[in-house]
Amino acid sequence: MSKEEPETKGCESPSIYKCAYPAPYPEVRVARPNKEYAYLLLEDYAGMVSEMTAVSQYSYHHFVLENENREVADALSCIALVEMHHLEILAETIVMLGVDPRYRTVEKNKSERYWDGAFVFYGTAFCDRLTADVAGEWAAIANYRKHQRMIDDPYINRILERIILDELHHVEMFNHLIQKYCRPKLPKYNP
Ligand SMILES: [Fe+2]
Ligand SMILES: [Fe+2]
Repeated sequence: MSKEEPETKGCESPSIYKCAYPAPYPEVRVARPNKEYAYLLLEDYAGMVSEMTAVSQYSYHHFVLENENREVADALSCIALVEMHHLEILAETIVMLGVDPRYRTVEKNKSERYWDGAFVFYGTAFCDRLTADVAGEWAAIANYRKHQRMIDDPYINRILERIILDELHHVEMFNHLIQKYCRPKLPKYNP
């Protein structure tokens, strides 16, 4: 590799640079195994509001909007790749904490609830879809913040902080697209 080319590793390929916050990802590690922490992260990984839902929802919106709006469809696939990277980071963390990263959450009574395609907001109208996408980002951020307060492990909290930076970046991207395509066009003032 020449000096001019950016160093790339794993999922951090140049194609997702524009949809990820421009900062490196911290090393994935944990202070010690902890199943309770893994169960909290399973909610971010494959719960109703989760990386698994985000990957599936943005991919679906990309598929159905491809012929309607190329710019939005491209942004959705680009953001979905970043969510897939988050999915990978969470899976690695959950394994290190001592739990199998199947696509499910574990309730307090240890019963399992597998990820469901019904968690996705499919929608029918273009702007409803973008509005649901940005709402999903805010909901994910709120869950990450809640779990940061419940997890006493500096390595995990650092990873979650980095993921939150990407989600805030996605909020900005979705807001820009909503402003561009979904703001009601007011009639021009003509005295
Ligand atoms: Fe994410
Ligand atoms: Fe996101």
